Amino acid sequence: MKQVYMETFGCQMNVADTDRMELLLFQSGYLHTPHVEDADLVLINTCSIREKAEQKVFSLFGGLKPLKQANPDLILGVAGCLAQQEQTVLMNRIPFLDFIVGPDAVESIQQIIHRVELGEGPIVWTEFDSEKNYSIPEQPLIKDPGPSAFVNIIKGCDKFCSFCVVPFTRGREKSREAGEIYAEIRQLVDKGAKEIVLLGQNVNAYGKRGLEQPVAFHELLYGIADIKGVERLRFITSHPMDFTRELIAAYRDIDILMNHLHLPVQSGSNRILELMRRSHTTEWYMDLIAQLKSEVPDIALSTDIIVGFPGETRQDFEGTLKLMEQVRFNNSYMFTYSPRPNTPALEMADDISHEEKQERLQQTIQLQNRLTEENSQAFLGQEVEVLIESVTSRRGMSFRGRSPHYWSVVFKGGEDHLKPGDVTRVRVEEANGHVLKGNWAANRHCSARSDGGRGEL
Ligand code: 5AD
Ligand code: SF4
Repeated sequence: MKQVYMETFGCQMNVADTDRMELLLFQSGYLHTPHVEDADLVLINTCSIREKAEQKVFSLFGGLKPLKQANPDLILGVAGCLAQQEQTVLMNRIPFLDFIVGPDAVESIQQIIHRVELGEGPIVWTEFDSEKNYSIPEQPLIKDPGPSAFVNIIKGCDKFCSFCVVPFTRGREKSREAGEIYAEIRQLVDKGAKEIVLLGQNVNAYGKRGLEQPVAFHELLYGIADIKGVERLRFITSHPMDFTRELIAAYRDIDILMNHLHLPVQSGSNRILELMRRSHTTEWYMDLIAQLKSEVPDIALSTDIIVGFPGETRQDFEGTLKLMEQVRFNNSYMFTYSPRPNTPALEMADDISHEEKQERLQQTIQLQNRLTEENSQAFLGQEVEVLIESVTSRRGMSFRGRSPHYWSVVFKGGEDHLKPGDVTRVRVEEANGHVLKGNWAANRHCSARSDGGRGEL
């Protein structure tokens, strides 16, 4: 068999796209290899959300050039958002490329490779698919999904935040028929998955249009909760404006829906939120959090923050720090603003100096580190329920997994009783940051749960 080496940059959607291409390429006779020198095909799945992500890709291809020179039959391709956005630049800067495939054309990878093998390259395939909804035909799995599996439910984005390339690289929002999603989840559960993480740029816009059998996002969650064997359910990423009352009720009512929500706010200044075209205010966001907390008091929250957006004053920035402090996020993904091609924000002067952006970023990181540390302290001496994801090589520890609130947990003990995929209890002995450390707290375990994953062991 021929061998394919793949590398992925960027978000979870890209990781899922790489997995899908690996599966399709397997059917075309390519086995995955972790060694680039052994590859007959090298496929790099790229990201263009910020400039830094782009630079990484160009430097990687510099390193691939000698391989192609040594072996002209080696096929080299670029997938992902950078491929979509910068096809001409890529072809000019990396003239030895054999193909470019956009994120909306992942399903065509077999045809593309076939054409390259016939000598028809270089091939550029960046058309958006013209179907009105989104389908990922079922395929036999080639590897076990592991205890936690991602499932795409929607692609693209219609929000057009003024700083963001996603609507241009991934196209309009398209939802996947619920029946197809349920079938994929059943297949994953049959292969050992315990936790399902629903995936999309904007998951809670699911079902707004295009579906032949209309299903709202909260209805989809109830439908998944009815599938036997799903012990935990999560989703990323949501937009505050698509958050419905019914979704809040779903958090309250669905036992297996974990009490954690990633809800990007981007800024704590209404003036900046308007320039960002986020279509929500800070008051709106805080009110939504208050409603959620009134139904689900222990909901854990995380967010995305951009600092140094064009025109962001010191006062605007302090609004962001204040909002972070008010919500007390467990975790934030924090970025300095990066001007992106095609986006409306490109018209605005990128007027905050590099040093000032870095200074603001450091301040948000310091604040978030303090919040994370303080929030983690609440678990000291407590027992948490952990879905074991893997054994760990950390010294003295046996397994690592996640708590319902999405804390990473490592613990000692249970080696002779437990395995990845089990849900067990851990007493937290150390809590000083992103990882909770503890000891196995159960003297027996069960991997097949009848109580929706919430009861005592
Ligand atoms: N500059 C900086 N951060 C950005 N993000 C998206 N576009 C940009 C940009 N141009 C961040 C947002 C988004 C996350 C995935 O990446 O915070 O939620
Ligand atoms: Fe980008 Fe905004 Fe869509 Fe998120 S909601 S993908 S930030 S345009």
